[in-house]
Amino acid sequence: MKNTIVGDNIEACLLRKLVLNGSFIPSETLAEALGISTEEVEKLVKVISLKGYPIEAHPKLGYRLVQSDSLAEIQYSVQALKTSLSFIIHYFESCSSTQEIAAMLAESGVNEGAVVIAEEQTAGRGRLSRSWVSPHGGLWFTIVLKPEKFTHLLSLAIGTAIATALRELFGIEARLKWPNDVQVEGRKVGGILVECTSEAEKLRYALVGIGVNVNNELPSELRDVAVSIRELLGRAVPRTLLLLRILEKVDENYVKLLGGFTRDIIEDWKKLSVTLGKRVRIIASNEVYEGYAIDITSNGGLVVDLGDRLEVFYAGDVVHLR
Ligand code: BTN
Repeated sequence: MKNTIVGDNIEACLLRKLVLNGSFIPSETLAEALGISTEEVEKLVKVISLKGYPIEAHPKLGYRLVQSDSLAEIQYSVQALKTSLSFIIHYFESCSSTQEIAAMLAESGVNEGAVVIAEEQTAGRGRLSRSWVSPHGGLWFTIVLKPEKFTHLLSLAIGTAIATALRELFGIEARLKWPNDVQVEGRKVGGILVECTSEAEKLRYALVGIGVNVNNELPSELRDVAVSIRELLGRAVPRTLLLLRILEKVDENYVKLLGGFTRDIIEDWKKLSVTLGKRVRIIASNEVYEGYAIDITSNGGLVVDLGDRLEVFYAGDVVHLR
C-alpha cells in the first residue's frame, strides 16, 4: 500500500504507523521511517497524545497506540481533542436510529457538537428513504450542528473529512462519489445523511448522520457494492481511533465552512472525487438524466453536461457509467 496520500502530513504518518502496527515500535524505527530525529518523534507523540489519542511510551520498547475498541468510554479522549466544537458523546448500546435520538436532543435544545453514537441501530436510515444496515462492529453516529444557514457544501465537507480520516489512519484509498458516498475501489465503505430542520426560513439544526462499515459483517446481498475496513485491511481495527480522527477532521472542515473557505472545501472534495469526469446516470425527481459530470458549483451542486445543456443537481441517485 502506498505511503503517500492526499493531504498527508507527518502527524498522520506517525499515527498511521502506530495504528497499523498495533504493538510497540522503537523510537529509532519511527524516526528512520519518518526521516526525523528521535527527539522530534518524542515531541510529535506528545502532540498526538495531548489530542486524546492514547499512546503508551516504554523506555526500551518505544511507542504503542492503545487499541481499545470501547466507544462507551470515548468521552475522555474526545474531551482532549483540540477542536473548536465541544463534542459531547451520548452513547447507546442499541437504538432505532441515532438520527432520531439526535433529533430529540436537538429539539430539547442540546448544544452544537452533541454526538449520538450506537453500537447497533435497529432502524438505521440512509438517503432517499432507504434503510441502512447497522449491526454491531460498525461506526454509527450523528452529530448535531447549528450553522446559520444550510448549504449542500456541508455534506461535501463531511465526506472529505471521513475519506481523509480513513486515508490518514489506515492508508486506505478512500474516494468520494457525489453526493456523499465514501468508496474504496467502487464499493461503499461509508455514507452520510444530512437532515435539516428549519423554521421561518432559518435553519434550526442539521443532523449529520455518519455510517462507516468498520468491523461489521455485511449481508451477502451487499457484498458486491459495499465493503468494510476489516475486509480491506484483513483485520479488525479500533473504532475509537477512527471516531476521534473523523471528529477532528469534521471540526477542521466545519471551521473552514463557517469561515467562508468554500473554495478549499470544493477543491479538497474534487481531489478525492470519483464522479467528476465520468459519464453518469442521475435519477432526480423521478426523471432520468445522462451526461458527463464536469464540475461542482460554489454551493455544492453537481454540474452535468447533458449534451444540449448544462444541468445542476443538488440531490439524486447517481450511477457511474464509465
Ligand atoms: C447513505 O449513504 O444512504 C447514508 C447513510 C447514513 C447512515 C448513518 S448511520 C448513523 C446515522 N443514523 C442513521 O439512521 N443513519 C445515519
